[in-house]
Amino acid sequence: MQSAKLFRCLFAAALSAVLTSTLLGAGTNSPRERLLFDFNWKFHLGNEWGAAIGWAKGGSGSGPASRSFSDASWRTVNLPHDWVVELPFDQGADGSHGFHPVGPGFPANSVAWYRHTFEVPKADAGKRLWLEFDGVFRDAQVFVNGWFIGHHESGYSSFRYDITDVLNYGGENVVAVKVDASQFEGWFYEGAGIYRHVWLVKTAPLAIAPDGTFVYSQFKNNVPGNTVEIRIQTQLLNAQTNAARAKVHYEIIGPEGKAVASDKESAELKPWVQRALRSEISFRSPELWSPESPKLYQLITTVESDGKTVDRQETTFGIRTVAFDPDKGFFLNGKPYVLKGTCNHQDMAGVGAALPDDLQYFRVKKLKEFGDNAYRTSHNPPTPELLDACDRLGMLVMDENRLLGSDAANLERFKGQILRDRNHPSVAIWSICNEESRQSYPDGGRVGAHMQELVKQLDPTRPVTAAENIGDVYTGLMGVLDVRGWNYHLGQDIDNYHKEHPLQPEVGTEQGSTVSTRGIYQNDPVRGYVSAYDENAPPWAHTAERWWSFFAVRPWLSGGFVWTGFDYRGEPTPYSWPCINSHFGIIDTCGFPKDNFWYYQAQWTDQPVLHLLPHWNWPGLEGKNVDVWCYANCQQVELFLNGRSLGRQTMTNYSHLHWSVKYEPGVLSAKGYTDGKVVSETKVETTGNPAAVQLAPDRAAINANDEDVSVITVSVNDAQGRVVPVANNLVHFALSGPGKILGVGNGDPSCHEPDVFVPQSPVHDVAENEGWRWKKSPNVYNQRLPEFRADFDDANWDTANVQSDTGPMGEQEQAVFRTKIRVSEQDLASQAVELQFNRIDEDGFVYVNGRRVGESHDWQAPAVFDVKSFLHPGENTIAVGVANWSGAGGINKGVTLQLADKPVAPAWQRSVFNGLAQIIVQSTREPGEIRLTASADGLSPATATIQSQPCVPRPFVP
Ligand code: GAL
Repeated sequence: MQSAKLFRCLFAAALSAVLTSTLLGAGTNSPRERLLFDFNWKFHLGNEWGAAIGWAKGGSGSGPASRSFSDASWRTVNLPHDWVVELPFDQGADGSHGFHPVGPGFPANSVAWYRHTFEVPKADAGKRLWLEFDGVFRDAQVFVNGWFIGHHESGYSSFRYDITDVLNYGGENVVAVKVDASQFEGWFYEGAGIYRHVWLVKTAPLAIAPDGTFVYSQFKNNVPGNTVEIRIQTQLLNAQTNAARAKVHYEIIGPEGKAVASDKESAELKPWVQRALRSEISFRSPELWSPESPKLYQLITTVESDGKTVDRQETTFGIRTVAFDPDKGFFLNGKPYVLKGTCNHQDMAGVGAALPDDLQYFRVKKLKEFGDNAYRTSHNPPTPELLDACDRLGMLVMDENRLLGSDAANLERFKGQILRDRNHPSVAIWSICNEESRQSYPDGGRVGAHMQELVKQLDPTRPVTAAENIGDVYTGLMGVLDVRGWNYHLGQDIDNYHKEHPLQPEVGTEQGSTVSTRGIYQNDPVRGYVSAYDENAPPWAHTAERWWSFFAVRPWLSGGFVWTGFDYRGEPTPYSWPCINSHFGIIDTCGFPKDNFWYYQAQWTDQPVLHLLPHWNWPGLEGKNVDVWCYANCQQVELFLNGRSLGRQTMTNYSHLHWSVKYEPGVLSAKGYTDGKVVSETKVETTGNPAAVQLAPDRAAINANDEDVSVITVSVNDAQGRVVPVANNLVHFALSGPGKILGVGNGDPSCHEPDVFVPQSPVHDVAENEGWRWKKSPNVYNQRLPEFRADFDDANWDTANVQSDTGPMGEQEQAVFRTKIRVSEQDLASQAVELQFNRIDEDGFVYVNGRRVGESHDWQAPAVFDVKSFLHPGENTIAVGVANWSGAGGINKGVTLQLADKPVAPAWQRSVFNGLAQIIVQSTREPGEIRLTASADGLSPATATIQSQPCVPRPFVP
């Protein structure tokens, strides 16, 4: 492919206003639409329909994959959705996945269907339409209008399909997704379902290809100077039978919203080809991106053809340089920069793996509070919105691939990850894998080198590493990747390796990790709790003080990533059941800090930190010694008990202070000194008994877009408003106004209370096996057959037993089956009324009161039809044309009318754990005041109000 190069310098100020108005104006007519496809999906856990793919003929998906299948009684869910968080705990299930009965051994809970019915306007005919999945866990089969569209196995990579050919323009369309989580991919909680966003993308036939924009900055010697060079690659796609001429305009908008530079290109495109364009634009005084100052630019690419705007796309990017130096460690924007990172899984209390975007922001902000500046997306490609949050809030990212492998499918997935993520300024380095068993073998090395080569072809700006849990070894991956990653293995191994391989940069890909439970100060193997003093780490790992004191004095190590920022479900360590989640987090599954939070905050930030542990509620320990620890970043700390000084101590680097204090209730306080002056003060107090519930929303106003959330801290306080650090009261919640509860949690790693309360629809089934008659017919494909009419007289037909296993029809025969059913007004008031045929063998055409309801073509699966709008109170006629091709046939195994009532709203509740719990409330699309009340036996209740503000939601498919 040819690439046109044009070098241009524009010095912004004078031209910017003109350019902005011209190009932005031109863009408003672009046919490109990116619609959120998250709302009003129907969900069913279970698969009664077998494979659903008809391999014999195209477009013949059966069961839920077919167009006419009824999902009326299925639960309505919005995405992102994770069904595992809805399952109970089960000691017989896999502990590393959090003891939920899913995956191997639990077939009934491991396969589910999602369906979404939507309209496509007639005006879309002639456009290209794409369905994009940010991630489905896992093994997704996608059908559109009965057509099999694609199969994607990994639960962590994004995928998209061009569905242009199979849509019904000017009418109804159905997407059906079969999700099969019968196998795990990792060894941690993974969730299941469509747990990331889905998008419907529409473009003109001539458009920027999917992931077709790459924009990055270059400086001389990779050190930022006064002039930046922006390199742009655009992949154009001409998906039509006409050749086309495209004019491409680029405009760069600075962080303050002003145009700073522009460029133009043009290209001829033959029919059905892609073509790559390249541009370089320079401008002066770039504003650099960093975690401390995350300045973002926009590239606006506008494509014109025949005088019309055919595409316009905005791409967010940042200007910055990254480098790893073997002696000085990581460099950001030409300066040494220590990575103070954490590894995290996408998993949070209340929602499991299905995080609304706002929770990505919530979590990144929480991590930043203790000075975290880097995030490793262990051990898989992240949700794109996590990277958006990291770009905007300022957080570097180690973007990790799931699996080591140079097979075509793995390389294709990895390629997709690089193309998708390479514009994000937050992404600083690629990690190709974690702790692979072939990491030190020649084959592992060759595979790794192949994957690294792929990165070099697609992204010249970032190095490659892997999370390697092996000592002083240079074979396999270690010898071929740009940067040596260290999972654990402190001490001689690292120092020797550095001496032996002085030219290879290094980074702590996975370090720490203390195991600790929030608010617990003694190990408790029975309940599965680990003390929150920084004393316990698994044999392969180290405490916070141990790893950080080692890394902090070896700048060539570049800093590292703690295992983990947040606690996550699964991997209960060191104890197992009843413990169901990990203890590695610096903060718990809700984001409530454990004491190590303040260790890191003292080490990793410049803000004054003075923190005492434990809490001071120890009835029964009066007169006994309690270990008091202090984290601080001043020079000296003096401790006081009830006003009496217990002595002043001098801080040592990377450590904590310790006093052994005879317990008496009251106030334990501390003063921090630097240069002899008090620079910080803190206290912990013995509280009274629980007296009141308190609700504290993190956001008092959210957007009425059916997406936004407020995360509300629930605390149980004493009469003076102090959180009671040992309280465990059960709190009941009630919500009114335009909102909904998404989930609850409390950070207790051994709590088996549900995080979500699922609305249940009471269903009652009425058998409809009586009164069936049948008669052979020459052509049941004829929709005008009088035998389908309501008033047809079938009195002299043979009676049919529709409950038999086989059926009365012979091979190559066609016949009509008829019966009458009675329904009441009350029946028809049900939310869903469905007619289920357990077997129609083989092709079936169903009519109710003479009107065609739908067809079925899979004799092995039940056929379900939504008949509510076809029925009337009193007597109704059912007629079914059946064509049987082989063996005996007919209507078999019984027919039922299924009546499902409106879902019953559940009552939400959660116990606080050591004084705290969390409840996540989401807006609807209706503005107004959301009122949440919380009550607990014997405590005064609390109410929180959240304003759901009118907003323009992002474009969506209803
Ligand atoms: C590491 C692994 C992580 C997690 C951790 C638990 O070796 O990379 O995924 O399992 O151990 O300590």
